[in-house]
Amino acid sequence: MVNRRVTSAAMSPAIIVQGGKRLSGSIQVLGAKNAVLKHMVAALLAPGRHTIENVPDIVDVQLMERVLRHVGATCDRDGTTLHIDVPEEPNPEAPLDLVRQMRASILVLGALLARTGTARVALPGGDDFGSRPIDFHVSGLESMGATFDLDHGVLHASAPDGLRGTDVFLEFPSVGATENLLLASVLANGTTTIRNAAREPELRDLAEYLMKMGAKIDGAGTSTIEVHGVPNLSPATHRTVPDRLEAGTYLVAGAITGGSVTVENCVPEHLRMELRKLEATGCTVATTESSVTVTGPVGRPHAVDVATLPFPGFHTDMHPQLVAYLSMSSGTSIVTENIYAGRFRYLGELNRMGADVHADGQHIVIRGVDRLSGCEVDGCDIRAAAAMTIAALRADGETIVTNAQHVDRGYDSFVPKLQSLGADVQRR
Ligand code: UD1
Repeated sequence: MVNRRVTSAAMSPAIIVQGGKRLSGSIQVLGAKNAVLKHMVAALLAPGRHTIENVPDIVDVQLMERVLRHVGATCDRDGTTLHIDVPEEPNPEAPLDLVRQMRASILVLGALLARTGTARVALPGGDDFGSRPIDFHVSGLESMGATFDLDHGVLHASAPDGLRGTDVFLEFPSVGATENLLLASVLANGTTTIRNAAREPELRDLAEYLMKMGAKIDGAGTSTIEVHGVPNLSPATHRTVPDRLEAGTYLVAGAITGGSVTVENCVPEHLRMELRKLEATGCTVATTESSVTVTGPVGRPHAVDVATLPFPGFHTDMHPQLVAYLSMSSGTSIVTENIYAGRFRYLGELNRMGADVHADGQHIVIRGVDRLSGCEVDGCDIRAAAAMTIAALRADGETIVTNAQHVDRGYDSFVPKLQSLGADVQRR
């Protein structure tokens, strides 16, 4: 048993951290993964050449490029600029193997239905946080006139007479469902109102890109979005909103080491709740219009209670990083996970490093310890791998974060950026 673990770990990509270095300096973040993937899908709505700027070089973008190629588009990259050429007649089918690897590819459903009146998409995969259904996507599109048929794991959607505007009330402000409905409604016949819509900055950014393409959208970024369908759209150029999750990850990494990290090219307003919670733990926070500096507390952080919520609440994708940080706090914190039922797998890994964290229902009880010790841990998803690396920066000795390929899905140059801040970290 032990031998098998050592063998598989030896083969997997890993991040190797020697803990104890205080981080300091500045880094720049690129465009948000959770925005750029949607922009790539949105491009399918208008034939011709689109340009998306501030695009990170991450695996999920590469996977989405493969989805687009399958649909008949071509993608070429020039540094952080991505050009997408969209054909007049896209192939209305997303390849099964890619959709299973990346949940964001479910958005091709709305875009292809709008463009071609039909779509065939496998049920999506993504990170393993428990069940992640798409019922809100499907029922919203059904109310716009689409019909669905599930056959051998593939969703066949069609709207032969086109999609029609309607009033959709979402049960939960799902980011993906709001985006799918937005993509479907911009070319629909009439007006679509999406109520209880997600208000995430990445969704607002998607609406801005769509409006540059000629879409008529009111209220993006609020909980009621009104979309007036237009007959066609034109290609556009758009600069992707900065990645608040990438920014937040480096800020927490600096804070756990008691160091001082500045993130440039970000929007501090998009991290308001996360920064407020860091301040409550004893960090000093300073912002300009496009940068944030967080200086970690002298000594251990104070304990703080946090609940993840849709924007503008604390982002679920920052919860593992925060738990890693709070594991060294001087008291007991409770982090309540309200978005995903199963985002707790990484807790056991953190405990292997000497943390005292456990899940009780949807609550994580974190009893702060005064020392973490390096060992081999599994970076089981994008944010868990980032969180393990953050804990490792403060741990005694060497930590090996295995399955580090997860980090490549969402962070461009993760290890070089940490190195530039003074971390002793290598990639295997
Ligand atoms: C997006 C982000 C993800 C982030 C999440 C919440 C991308 C590529 N991913 O995921 O990183 O963690 O927003 O901010 O942008 N749900 C249903 N039925 C549905 C749709 C969602 O029950 O039809 C549930 C989900 O299981 C989850 C919750 O609603 O529990 C929120 O999901 P949602 O906001 O849709 O997240 P994603 O768009 O998948």
